[in-house]
This record gives sequence, structure tokens and C-alpha cells, in this order.
Amino acid sequence: NLSGLDLRAEIDRLRKEKNAVILAHYYQKPELQDLADFVGDSLELSRIAAETDADVIAFCGVKFMAETAKILSPDKIVVLPDLDAGCSLEDSCPPDKFAAFRAQHPDHIALTYINCSTEVKALSDIIVTSSSAEKILSQIPADQKIIFGPDKHLGGYLQRKLGREMLLWPGVCIVHEAFSETELLKLKAQYPDAPVAAHPECPAHIIDHADMVGSTSAILKFAKETPSEVVIVATEPHIIHQMEKAVPEKTFIGAPGADGNCNCNICPYMALNTMEKLYVALRDLEPRIELDEELRLQAKKSLDRMLEMAS
Ligand code: 13P
Ligand code: SF4
Repeated sequence: NLSGLDLRAEIDRLRKEKNAVILAHYYQKPELQDLADFVGDSLELSRIAAETDADVIAFCGVKFMAETAKILSPDKIVVLPDLDAGCSLEDSCPPDKFAAFRAQHPDHIALTYINCSTEVKALSDIIVTSSSAEKILSQIPADQKIIFGPDKHLGGYLQRKLGREMLLWPGVCIVHEAFSETELLKLKAQYPDAPVAAHPECPAHIIDHADMVGSTSAILKFAKETPSEVVIVATEPHIIHQMEKAVPEKTFIGAPGADGNCNCNICPYMALNTMEKLYVALRDLEPRIELDEELRLQAKKSLDRMLEMAS
């Protein structure tokens, strides 16, 4: 029974006692973002995980992110407050099916979004994040054939932006898939001067109305720097917390789903992490991420290529 505990103070005490670093993605609940040592996008959090000298990494994010931290920092204890915090993109891409798809296209390399399992990373040549994908893709020779998975919307966006054909795996993020074009157009009519900032996991019919497309960190930067007073944000709405902290005088509106508000766009996996579960994870150093060493080393190759090519 955790009632009566000052969770914030207890988490602070445990973080020092266990020499832990708390990492949080922008899609986490505001209270978790506020007590994290670092809040960032997938690439930034991977870099911090690779470089930290903490003994414990408490990852407030989803499982593929915590596994990435473990791949890059195998000697650290990596805890994830809720092991069920998965991702629809990871679920869309079972390793056996991905291996079979690769085998059908032996002349293609696999350029793979970081939102996938460790097994799929091990089957891939180069990993990308939303903030590094364009830079990495533009370094691949034009005649090299490419499989891109598991996010068909990010893949489609890259194809359109860079004019590059790729074979796309048919996965989607259920959060970004849920934005409604009709409702977005209604909102734009209401706020004609408000730019739309969209994540590339959005389908093309949302991206087509965007003034800016980028990773969570890029969207946050845009929100801070644009002279516009009102910004429409087409990504998971918890990122608005950082925007409101940074520029409280501006108004940020989450892009709507079919019901006309942004609540249906909350990531149900990210939402599984809570202050209570983070406290227990730091106290017990469980649930812990453990990976088979051979698998880890194989997955690390494609992640290392990302870190080299993105730098
Ligand atoms: P980025 O923070 O890298 O833009 O990723 C977004 C996302 O969907 C993470 O699950
Ligand atoms: Fe996966 Fe989408 Fe949730 Fe990110 S927001 S963890 S891509 S389901």
C-alpha cells in the first residue's frame, strides 16, 4: 500500500541511493516528465542511455526504448515501470514474418524505424529515428534497394520528401493513425493563422495539412520558435506539457480525433507508466530488461550504424 508516501520525495531518495538516471519520453504523463533527469525524443534518449555513468537507467517510455537502452548499455540495470508498455508498430512486425519478408528481397537492405523489437533490430542493417531518418536515408547510395519498416507512414513521408522508392512494411502507430482530417480542417478554419506541426508517423492526409513535420524534439523546438500565438500539434498530446512550460503565453491545441478532441490520441502504452510504478521499479530494481547476449550484439550493429550516421 503506497498511500501516504510522498512519491516524489521517495523517488528522489531512491534515485540518489541507487545512482539511477530517470529518462522520460515526451509522451509520458507530466508528473513523470517533471521528475525525469532528461526528457527527449527517441534519438536523444538513446544517446543519453549509451553515455550515462549511472548504475541504473529507469526508463519512462515504452519497451523498445528501454531495450534500446539495454542494448547500448548492457552493464547497467535498466528498469521499465510497466513491462506491458509496448507499441503498435512493434506489434505489427513479428520477427519471423520480417525475416521471411527480407528473405524474399535479398537484394534490399533493411532500414528500420527504432519502434520495433530487439529481434527486428537484429534482422536490420540500419536503424533510424524520426529525427535521424532523412539524414541517414540521404547517405544511402541511390541505386541501393531498401526495405523500410515497420511504419508505412514514416516510410511514405520519406519517399515523398526525398523522392526515393522503398518497399514499405504495412505497420502503423495507432495514436497518429487516429487523427481526423475532417476535424483538423474544422480546427484550421477556426484558427486560420495557427500552423500545424505534425509527427511523420501521421498518415499523408494529415501531413498534407502540416506546416512543419518532425520528431517530438523538432516539434517542440518549432512550437517555441514560431512567432505564431497558437499552434496545432499533431502528435501525442502529452508533449504539450513541455510547450506550455517553455512558452506559457502561447496556446497549443492538440490535433483532434474523430470525436473532435485530442484525448483519443493519448498513447495507451505510454500511459501505463505511473509515479507508483516508477517508485516500485526504483525500490525493487524490477521489472528489469534482460536480453540474450548474442541477440543484443546483433541488434547493436544496426543501432551503432544509426548513431554513426546520425551524428
Ligand atoms: P520521437 O520522439 O523520436 O519523435 O518518436 C515518437 C514516438 O512515437 C515514440 O514512440
Ligand atoms: Fe508506439 Fe505510437 Fe505509442 Fe509511439 S505513440 S509508442 S509509436 S503506439
